[in-house]
Amino acid sequence: MTLNRRHFMMSAVAASGMPHLALAAPFTLRAGPVTAQILPEGDGTTQLLGFNGSSPGPELRYRAGDMVDIRFENGIDQGSAIHWHGIRIDNAMDGVPYMTQPMVESGESFGYRFTLPDAGTYWYHSHNRSWEQVARGLYGPLIVEEINPPVVDHDITVMVDDWRIERTGEIIEDFGNRHDFSHAGRLGTFARIIASVSEVRKGDRVRLRLINTATARVFPLEIAGISGKVVALDGMPLDKAEDIGPLMMAPAQRVDIIADVQDTVRFIFPTRQEPYELGSIGVSGESPAPTRLPITALPAANVRMPSAQPDHMLVLRMQGGAMGGAHEGEDIWSFNGVSGLTDDPWQTFIQGQTARIQLINDTNFPHGIHLHGHHFHEVLEDGSLGPFRDTTLLQRQQTRDILCVFDNPGKWLVHCHMLGHQASGMKTWVEVV
Ligand code: C2O
Ligand code: CU
Repeated sequence: MTLNRRHFMMSAVAASGMPHLALAAPFTLRAGPVTAQILPEGDGTTQLLGFNGSSPGPELRYRAGDMVDIRFENGIDQGSAIHWHGIRIDNAMDGVPYMTQPMVESGESFGYRFTLPDAGTYWYHSHNRSWEQVARGLYGPLIVEEINPPVVDHDITVMVDDWRIERTGEIIEDFGNRHDFSHAGRLGTFARIIASVSEVRKGDRVRLRLINTATARVFPLEIAGISGKVVALDGMPLDKAEDIGPLMMAPAQRVDIIADVQDTVRFIFPTRQEPYELGSIGVSGESPAPTRLPITALPAANVRMPSAQPDHMLVLRMQGGAMGGAHEGEDIWSFNGVSGLTDDPWQTFIQGQTARIQLINDTNFPHGIHLHGHHFHEVLEDGSLGPFRDTTLLQRQQTRDILCVFDNPGKWLVHCHMLGHQASGMKTWVEVV
């Protein structure tokens, strides 16, 4: 979708300082089998699962403050449910079967209704057998526009993904094999970007909303042909717009960039051999009036800052996996020696409490740890507050503290977003009362 400046000017006037509360038009998301062109045009197609006939599913676009009304119809032959990743959502709408809602069995449907408190780049995906259903294509972007969005010529969603497919495009049906689970997860044989816009002009100002939708692959990423700033991570604005350094995206992480186009925008995955080109956005023509405005920070989200004295000091230790040390969990992976969900939560927080959690990766694989229903601050090495994220990447044997205000009541999963790791033990849950 192309958003021109006039549209933004008008919406800025229309907003006029009033809080925006609107019931968005009802929408249906129907999961079912789809045929997708993952390989380049002309090569074989891939049988996947998708929403409303495509994988990725349709881009859902709302404005901050909107009340969403989505009916999910399950047209696949397994139970499913949809999780709205990164949204600080009403717990009953979080999409976790058996924890926040019943399983939506094949042929059944479920109504999701929730408000979107924060502008930003989010996504939705299946939360049942996600190691299979997400790998088969059940996901899509969920974009929440600011009430007064920054002025850009194009607002572009760029999903980065990989697929395990044959050269003919056929999907390789070895989902859930224990070898993948105990190693880096289901890594694909083919990777590319899927961008919502294929062509821009030289001099255009663009917003790139990158989303890593892969089930397991961490993407280091270089973007050629633009000059600009990173303005948000995992949907949440950075305090200051920052130079675009080397990007490293764990599964489920998002990066928002605002930049000016200088040349073909190329997305490059630097590998140990040679760089792998994930795709590009072409350039044709020149903008007659390139903006000269500086790229500044997005308006801050309305969130509570952690208290200086945390109410809880906790440790969450990742253990297990191939070449890992012994641990007490009963599956491949564990948190603090416990694999999978227990009847009682790992922790109970009183609404509004701050916890400082030391995440220790005691394994030989990276993990992207995701907390539902909240964002948290990464604590930087010098002790200062880092970015506000919903998924944090821990490289092998790395330790990082996070600070979280648990202010959203309900039952919330904490799990690795390498979906095979989640399926084989690396998950737990907390309760906010
Ligand atoms: Cu995006 Cu529980 O996951
Ligand atoms: Cu993991």
